[in-house]
Amino acid sequence: MRVLIIGDVVGQMGCDFIRQKLAKYKLENQIDVVIANGENSAEGNGILPHSANHLFDSGVNIITTGNHALRRREIYDMLNEQIGLIRPANFHSEAPGCGYYIYDTANFKLCVINLQGTVYMDNIQNPFECIDNLLKQIDTKNIIVDFHAEATSEKLAMGYYLDGRVSLVYGTHTHVQTADERILKNGTGYITDIGMCGGYESVLGVKPELVIKRLKTNLPVRFENAKDNCVLCGITVEIDKNLGKTTKIERIYLS
Ligand code: FE2
Repeated sequence: MRVLIIGDVVGQMGCDFIRQKLAKYKLENQIDVVIANGENSAEGNGILPHSANHLFDSGVNIITTGNHALRRREIYDMLNEQIGLIRPANFHSEAPGCGYYIYDTANFKLCVINLQGTVYMDNIQNPFECIDNLLKQIDTKNIIVDFHAEATSEKLAMGYYLDGRVSLVYGTHTHVQTADERILKNGTGYITDIGMCGGYESVLGVKPELVIKRLKTNLPVRFENAKDNCVLCGITVEIDKNLGKTTKIERIYLS
């Protein structure tokens, strides 16, 4: 099974870039399933039905999110529809939506789980405890975890914690691709952050001058996404569908 995973998609430009590139990339690289993190895909942050549908229509099969998942109320109904749009599993039980999705095809069954870190982030349910409970309910060996977290230490620890228990653990949220992709001892693929799909000349997708102003003055500044030179960062992964183990993991960076 060949999986393409795209990092945090930023705004309309990120969505448009995926529309432009994805079909060809899938074909040329024999991709079976595409996952993208869409929590910043709406202009002005969060995710909206419009941006989610744009990603699905472009060929994304499963959309994961993170701390901005519930920022826009318009997405709540869509999160409840169980169509492959998920939010972190360790959100409160009253949150709309679900923390995992089973993508079931004639060829393979894949479970995608979304989790959120708690180091330097909101104090929600412990993600290690959450995944232990969740894994008891999953009836496929092919399991991919999007760990949406800030701290590299928490992401690495989760990778080792789940080594041999899931197929792949990859990080999102920090928008900067890390060069540490690997296959852990017991067959779990791992990378600390897969990067983003957004403007290259930016601070995590946002116009640099606006971030500089906020950091320099501590005054409120309305962020706007950078509009030029889109890059698409992510990974392609090969998973042995019979064993549920990663056999190959490669970083991708399209400009
Ligand atoms: Fe995030």
